[in-house]
Amino acid sequence: MNDHVTHVTHPLVQHKLTLMRQKDTSTALFRQLLREISQLLAYEVTRGLPMTTRRIDTPLEPMDAPVIDGKKLALVSILRAGNGLLDGVLELIPSARVGFVGLYRDEATLQPVQYYFKVPTELEDRLVIAVDPMLATGNSSVAAIDLLKQAGATNIRFLCLLAAPEGIARMREAHPDVPIITAAIDSHLNDHGYIVPGLGDAGDRMFGTK
Ligand code: URA
Repeated sequence: MNDHVTHVTHPLVQHKLTLMRQKDTSTALFRQLLREISQLLAYEVTRGLPMTTRRIDTPLEPMDAPVIDGKKLALVSILRAGNGLLDGVLELIPSARVGFVGLYRDEATLQPVQYYFKVPTELEDRLVIAVDPMLATGNSSVAAIDLLKQAGATNIRFLCLLAAPEGIARMREAHPDVPIITAAIDSHLNDHGYIVPGLGDAGDRMFGTK
């Protein structure tokens, strides 16, 4: 672990992740576990947010109580698997603004191509949390963050469930200013770009497709 990557080793996160990795875990349980883990990860990814105080009245007396400072933060889901992480984080931060980035891989060039991009206004004034469960090659994550920066974002964090060393290296090279928060750093990518040992195709497992 270093400043660029935070590996969340909390026992609850690790236990739930093990259940998610198991190939016979049902779609319904996978989805529920993802929701639970994303809330635990949301706790980590929002660590250190700037705080201010607000004058409030308790039943006993007034006090200056701590509240998060600044504009509502922006959660950006990298479609489609990002939506699985998004839902849980949004439950914990219900006032967050939400954006979506859709990318597909051009099979000829193997490069990500944008097909959808819709993000909140005033991105430059918000903490932007980009969510995608699998940081594999890093190609789509790097492309998504390129787009967020072009749209004005300057303060971005990247939240994922599993990261491959290859994806972390790619992100560190392209976006050293974007911290990565992950529940696991796995061994490597296979020839098809899947994380090993991983959990398979996150989108298929959460949506029950294949
Ligand atoms: N995307 C997935 O869903 N799984 C992987 O292992 C890699 C990328």
